[in-house]
Amino acid sequence: MARIVAGVGCSHIPSIGAAADKGMEQDPYYQPLFDGYGPAREWIKRIAPDVVILIYNDHASAFSVELINTFVLGVGDQFKPHDEGYGPRNVPDVVGHGELAEHILESLILNEFDMALANEMSVDHGLTVPMTVMFDKPEAWPCKVIPLCVNVIKYPQPTGNRCFNLGKALRKAVESYPEELNVAVFGTGGMGHQLQGERAGLINEEFDQYFLNHLQNSPEELTKLTHLDYLRDAGSEGIELIMWLMMRGAMHSPSEVYRFYHVPMSNTAAGLICFEETV
Ligand code: DHB
Ligand code: FE
Repeated sequence: MARIVAGVGCSHIPSIGAAADKGMEQDPYYQPLFDGYGPAREWIKRIAPDVVILIYNDHASAFSVELINTFVLGVGDQFKPHDEGYGPRNVPDVVGHGELAEHILESLILNEFDMALANEMSVDHGLTVPMTVMFDKPEAWPCKVIPLCVNVIKYPQPTGNRCFNLGKALRKAVESYPEELNVAVFGTGGMGHQLQGERAGLINEEFDQYFLNHLQNSPEELTKLTHLDYLRDAGSEGIELIMWLMMRGAMHSPSEVYRFYHVPMSNTAAGLICFEETV
């Protein structure tokens, strides 16, 4: 059967993608960041997932604001990087796993998580930056990717608890797929940040550390965080962290293998946490 073997929580700050694309990894501003990514890249090479389920949010790119779905699963075989205003990133197209994605879609919907499905969509920095963070700059991505897109940009977003439970259903779906596949789940976005309004630039390291410290052993505590808690403590875009909770829900008994936290990066705290499944 297919198995979830690893989980990753990873910020998706666009300037990290731009820095990598321009070869600025040794620039004094970016060097500590890319140095911090090194051990995670070595680790994921060893894990060598066949498929990554990449939980991310679309930033009014593929879906604009005309149609916002709470949860969208990408069931297509290929997803191209979106042009976010500077031309599409020069990164490989994402190759999907249509068969596994269709299986997950069926399992989730029959377990009463009403997903929308996308046969075609472009993918923005929410998806491509974590790929760069973890896999650097290969000719082609070393694994297939199933995009799972969550609305975090327009109130009312789903609750963290809903995302955590969807993660559990995702695990059930993967484990009922008969083919031998090693699957990693990435939850992306965050950490705390606010890009707009009076508190633009807000970073709350204490909250970020609290979130990182509870993710492995007491995620239930994090599922109690309300929208208002995120808004107050993590800024208006901190709600992206509910996607890390979905990743954690998909893991049974994770063991932390690596953590990296760096502030500031752009307007944001860049966080990274890597888990291996122990069962
Ligand atoms: C920025 C944008 C994001 O979508 C995000 O999650 C973090 C930072 C930015 O523009 O700095
Ligand atoms: Fe974002």
